[in-house]
Amino acid sequence: MTDKTNPVDLITGHRRMRRNRKADWTRRMVQENRLTADDLIWPIFVVPGSGIVVPIEAMPGVNRMSIDKAVEAAKEAADLGIPALATFPNIEMRLRDETGSNSLAANNLINETTRAIKKAVPNIGVITDVALDPFTSHGHDGILRNGEIVNDETVAQIARAAVVQAEAGADIIAPSDMMDGRVGAIRRALDAAGHQNVGIMSYATKFASAFYGPYREAIGTGGLLKGDKKTYYIDPANGTEAMRDAALDVEEGADMLMVKPGLPYLDICWRMKESFGLPVFAYQVSGEYTMIKAAAANGWIDGERVMLETLLAFKRAGCDGILSYFAMDVARILAKRP
Ligand code: PBG
Repeated sequence: MTDKTNPVDLITGHRRMRRNRKADWTRRMVQENRLTADDLIWPIFVVPGSGIVVPIEAMPGVNRMSIDKAVEAAKEAADLGIPALATFPNIEMRLRDETGSNSLAANNLINETTRAIKKAVPNIGVITDVALDPFTSHGHDGILRNGEIVNDETVAQIARAAVVQAEAGADIIAPSDMMDGRVGAIRRALDAAGHQNVGIMSYATKFASAFYGPYREAIGTGGLLKGDKKTYYIDPANGTEAMRDAALDVEEGADMLMVKPGLPYLDICWRMKESFGLPVFAYQVSGEYTMIKAAAANGWIDGERVMLETLLAFKRAGCDGILSYFAMDVARILAKRP
């Protein structure tokens, strides 16, 4: 028999990576990560009124919905197997003020949304943000005093707001404001009010990012925001600082951690998962969504494939789930797969 050894066999010592890639069935067999509907958290935008579904210009395919429509959407999401929603309110301008006082109102838009969703669709989780930005007249996540976002006064207020949100039925409180000590303060306030079962998903590492632009249009804070958020969000240059910030949240009692934005910060996702072993989530934010939509609308990329690839990349980076505006699109695609 003639020796059919090839030069490449000698180079690789007879190892060939392509053997496992040769057919669809081998590729399926060795696939390490898989995206399922269980991995998806769907962020939605809520407006006052009823029967309202208005498109958000900077986020093609995403709408602001009144509570009744949000309830319908929640039903659809639950039917597709999406475990949870993250709700963001577009508060009427007349209700916004210096301190974001409407955040404490038991019947404000976010709490009424929670109540309506939990009543009609009890099997979907509701995750609420306690940051003050939807409620402040200046668009900041905290209370503004003499040009400063004051930490401790803000923490006291968001801890109270968290209790009000829990009372409305929120399952998980997600503080995105990056004030020091907020996770511990929220945990204590929740427990003192008897909400031991309400969890905290910390926006542990939230970066001062340009990717939030379209979101600010969606909740009407873009035009209001004075200055930037660099005194409380993390500098995109800093990974070690992000880890230290997350470590404090873990000590203060966070149940889950989140990295935001997502795709440009996969290194942080990986480091957090490796270091803490807590469930780690990534928020694929508005700007990430919009970039994919815009390029796809121009025919420059295959939007569906890029969407699925980005979400799978989060899984590979160690994420247990992803907050994504693509959640419904993806869940529909996954539901059709055998
Ligand atoms: C603020 C908040 C932001 C987002 C959600 N809550 C960032 C900001 O406006 O500074 C961004 C979400 C997105 O871009 O999709 N607490």
